[in-house]
Amino acid sequence: MSRNILLTGASGYLGGTFLELLKDAGLPAHKIYATVRSDTQAEAVKQYNASPLSLDLSNTDAVSAAIIDNNISIVYHLHNPLDTGVPAWIKALATVKQQTGQDVHFLLTTGAKIFSSHAGAPTEPFSDTDPALLSIQQSQPEKSPIDAMGVAAQCNSLVIETANALGVKSYIFAPCIVYGRGLGFGNKISIQTVAVVKAAVATRRVYKVDEGRPTWPVCHVLDNSTLYIEILRGILEGRDIGSGASGYFLASPGSVAWDDIYAAVGKALKKRGKVDDEAVVKADRAALEKMGEGLECPADFVPLQLGGLCTLTAEHGKRIGWTPRYKAEHILEDADAEVGLILEYLENARSYGIPKGTKLKQ
Ligand SMILES: NC(=O)c1ccc[n+]([C@@H]2O[C@H](COP(=O)([O-])OP(=O)(O)OC[C@H]3O[C@@H](n4cnc5c(N)ncnc54)[C@H](OP(=O)(O)O)[C@@H]3O)[C@@H](O)[C@H]2O)c1
Repeated sequence: MSRNILLTGASGYLGGTFLELLKDAGLPAHKIYATVRSDTQAEAVKQYNASPLSLDLSNTDAVSAAIIDNNISIVYHLHNPLDTGVPAWIKALATVKQQTGQDVHFLLTTGAKIFSSHAGAPTEPFSDTDPALLSIQQSQPEKSPIDAMGVAAQCNSLVIETANALGVKSYIFAPCIVYGRGLGFGNKISIQTVAVVKAAVATRRVYKVDEGRPTWPVCHVLDNSTLYIEILRGILEGRDIGSGASGYFLASPGSVAWDDIYAAVGKALKKRGKVDDEAVVKADRAALEKMGEGLECPADFVPLQLGGLCTLTAEHGKRIGWTPRYKAEHILEDADAEVGLILEYLENARSYGIPKGTKLKQ
């Protein structure tokens, strides 16, 4: 039987690439409803045989009605890791389950940041199949050095707890430093590589923000999308791929040191005359202030955007048959092309939008 899927964020970097790759993925029968915010987006999603749904995603009544009215049994949420309205979405899926007898599924896109030093997560290696992951996340709001990161960890737990209580299968999907040209109709570039470039262009040099050589998981955008697809394949084929407290997925072939990313970006920017010196030095307070101006965020939030330690490792994807095409080091080999791509789209680059005056802890 064909399944109805609700996709948010189709005009974004990750959602757009997912939608494009879905066309040739050979998945069992399904129909995509893509949420849109403009007529242009509505026209654009039709080229993928998706049905546009014009919805205010903060209006949980409207979202619930759309899920129930369209018999949606699978939700792919790709637009806001801080969405505390998700219980209403999950309740609506439970109603569909009751009315149709179909199993129902909710996937939330979070971020590797929520499993990092910025969010009070462990700083020793731990895997996305760790049976203690839910209890780790439940403890993070108290430990998180940044309020918003605590809220995001809470949001992940909320999804799992609500879904468990209502008989809905849930998945927490964590993209990391994603890079490479997006294939969708909307945004073509990522967030974190962009932050490194934006801050460097503003200060005319690449600064590091941490002591030591912290590492972070990385992933090519095509590999990130194929993990979304393999999860969906498992769901549509009715396989048990692990859900709820066992439903975390990090999309990554491995980690690299921020220092190596900075060095590669510095070289590519120097070649293009965008920095005065390709050598990477530690940022002092004045540099952080200037980087913050470039990133349109308070100086205290600069390390959140382009540094920190994330020791989460990816096991779950491999267990369901996902094989990333690119190894982690490819991000360094590809840095010159990535910088060229970012500079091409810099005018329209999206940022985290952290207003001036926001404090790490309120
Ligand atoms: N890219 C990465 O490296 C990365 C890493 C970790 C986590 N993530 C998370 O993954 C998700 C997708 O990332 P992305 O890179 O694809 O982001 P993106 O390119 O900025 O796209 C965001 C998408 O969400 C939509 N959106 C945002 N706020 C919305 C709202 N209030 N109502 C309806 N739609 C809304 C946007 O629609 P419009 O086009 O209309 O604005 C767009 O389609 C985000 O939640 C992001 O935080 C991304």
